[in-house]
Amino acid sequence: MSFVPVSSPHFCGNEKRYLQECIESGWVSSEGPFVSRFEAAFADKCDRKHGVAVSSGSAALEVAFSALKIQPGDEVIVPTFTIISCVAPLVRMGAKVVFVDSRPDTWCMDIAQVEAKVTPRTVAILAVHTYGLPVDMNPLIELTEKYGIALIEDAAESIGDHYRGRACGSFGVISTISFYANKHVSSGEGGMVLTNDAELAERCRSLRNLCFQREKRFYHEELGWNYRMSNLQAAMGLAQLEGLSETSRLKRALGTRYQQAFKALSGIQLPVDETEYANNGYWVFGLIFDPDTFPEADQVAKQLKQLDIGTRPFFYPMHLQPVFNEAGLFLHDRFPVSEHLSTQGLYIPSGASMSDEQIQQVCDAVTQVANAGVHSS
Ligand SMILES: Cc1ncc(COP(=O)(O)O)c(C=O)c1O
Repeated sequence: MSFVPVSSPHFCGNEKRYLQECIESGWVSSEGPFVSRFEAAFADKCDRKHGVAVSSGSAALEVAFSALKIQPGDEVIVPTFTIISCVAPLVRMGAKVVFVDSRPDTWCMDIAQVEAKVTPRTVAILAVHTYGLPVDMNPLIELTEKYGIALIEDAAESIGDHYRGRACGSFGVISTISFYANKHVSSGEGGMVLTNDAELAERCRSLRNLCFQREKRFYHEELGWNYRMSNLQAAMGLAQLEGLSETSRLKRALGTRYQQAFKALSGIQLPVDETEYANNGYWVFGLIFDPDTFPEADQVAKQLKQLDIGTRPFFYPMHLQPVFNEAGLFLHDRFPVSEHLSTQGLYIPSGASMSDEQIQQVCDAVTQVANAGVHSS
């Protein structure tokens, strides 16, 4: 049996042809035509008027925060159980990041904790759909309207998913996406900012392009970045977008198969398959190992590795990151659910291109580890 990687690319059909078109036409940089085609098609998929392609999901978040003109001292409410890309730009800008914990069942940010964190300095809430399950958006929309603050949506892990029938990526004033290799739509590396606001979209375009000016190109009134997406990346992204509904179908089928295989195992918490507002799109399939029965997840990961199964640890909560704590940030924050998810959680191979044999190999290995009921002692 060979090793089953935690993720591998899933190609949809036109990738080679579009990449070849780039090479034959000589358009490889961000000036090429696939960039605007991909922006328009992806924005349309998410029911947004404007899409601004960038070089990564991290860049998309940085551009979005900057376009919203978040100022030093402004407060932004963010889940602690997320990737550092959601927090690092805010810290660099001098904004105050105010964390909320996750829900123990959905692993998404606990909406019930948000309102108590709103102060007169709060300017935005960042909702992050986690591991393929959308956040409960309606209460957040109500809160942001009540307090007149911005709703930002990070839909990197929910491409193609829906909340109450509405596309993820369509919520709030601005949404961000990642097209990293393990995402439902990938350009290898890449990202996008989505909005309905033409002025905001224009600011994002300027920020991703070093704030060059149209008339006086090398004259700068603001600082931006070179976060442009290349024509090659956009060509790949467009081909992937064409296959999105099939990718989503395969991911849900994989999630359903894992649910069936693991539902009788004791001591393991499975992802929620559906809530009243969304289906799980199973960007990844996570498992939480009960500490009374199992050692910490990293030891379970080692056992699965011995059985040729790749895994990834869950996020390490942002409030515990040494880089922030050493700067004196978040020292007194405690978020027990996120801390529990982080020590006890991991995700198993979740790629849309997994073969039947690979899926069975994962099911057998997880069942074997679960039945052994391993203890840390
Ligand atoms: C929720 C979320 N936001 C942002 C990012 C950052 O995206 P990238 O890796 O493209 O910079 C990721 C990456 O996985 C993510 O999962």
